[in-house]
Amino acid sequence: MQKQLEEICAKALNEVENAQNSADIDAIKLEYLSRKSVLNNIKKGLKDLTPEQRPIVGAFANEVAQKIEQAVNEKEQAIYEKELNEKLESERIDITLPGRNIPMGKIHPLTQTVDEIVSIFQGMGFTITDNENSPEVETEYYNFDALNFPKDHPAKDMQDTFYTKVAPNVILRGQTSGAQIHTMETKKPPLRIISPGRVYRCESVSARKNNLFHQIEGLVVDKNITFADLKGVLNEFTRIYFGEARPTRFRTSFFPFTEPSAEIDVQCIMCKGKGCKVCSQTGWLEILGAGMVDPNVLKGVGIDPDVYTGFAFGMGVERLAMLKHAICDIRMFFNNDIRFLEQF
Ligand code: DAH
Repeated sequence: MQKQLEEICAKALNEVENAQNSADIDAIKLEYLSRKSVLNNIKKGLKDLTPEQRPIVGAFANEVAQKIEQAVNEKEQAIYEKELNEKLESERIDITLPGRNIPMGKIHPLTQTVDEIVSIFQGMGFTITDNENSPEVETEYYNFDALNFPKDHPAKDMQDTFYTKVAPNVILRGQTSGAQIHTMETKKPPLRIISPGRVYRCESVSARKNNLFHQIEGLVVDKNITFADLKGVLNEFTRIYFGEARPTRFRTSFFPFTEPSAEIDVQCIMCKGKGCKVCSQTGWLEILGAGMVDPNVLKGVGIDPDVYTGFAFGMGVERLAMLKHAICDIRMFFNNDIRFLEQF
């Protein structure tokens, strides 16, 4: 019996030694240390031994059981640590790896430009006019007549204006200037408003022209408003928008709703006035139209031109965005090419 126990002990220790993982250990425990184990079977047989042999073999059997148990415990601990290390290693996170790129939408460059221009004027105390005072579907009255356009003005021609079938005088507006009239009809001076929005013109599309584009209209009406106020406001606008004070030029022009009228140029931001392709060798870039509100326009909306004066201006958003970002084709704003849009 002693010999049998020694064999069991040797076999068990050998198996423990060769155990690779916790499953092997569980199998060994079941075979040698459980109630149904070989060792337990031997212990059950002790009762058949003589009284002299019984304590000796019994003590030896306990010794063998302890030895196996100790070996199993040590191996179990080693395997546990090994398996834990393997698991930690396999789940290791490399915190130096660059993050995964999550594609995010961006604000369209035209919207960004509108927001930027609007916030410059808000900084000077202008407020955005109410939406209902800036409709895209307009009547000829607001787009032309109330703005002092003569009845036979060429802009009213079918070539320029999109007419609708709703009624003969209902059109898509060709300029945001109608917002001036809507605003002055519903609000009394002092007024200091801007009105951004879409305008439509029936023209052939090219790198410089699209039949949908955006304008920002401005209007100031109060007592003692002069051309100096107009110059001050627009010079300050160009300084902030183009990032530095640069020379501007107020050129005599004509608009039916302003007198005097001007077109405002800024020194070419590409060549700084030397002359290049962008400014057609002139050294200047036209950025907006403006002028003092014509007394006829004020009269038409019931504002006394002997008491109040005002100035107005209108700028093309696409043009300003193209100049600032050196974009050479207006159609890029409308093609929705992600490679273009991503850059803003
Ligand atoms: N509405 C003009 C255009 O589309 C631009 C403009 C010129 C607006 C002079 C104004 C202004 O308010 O005073 O060409």
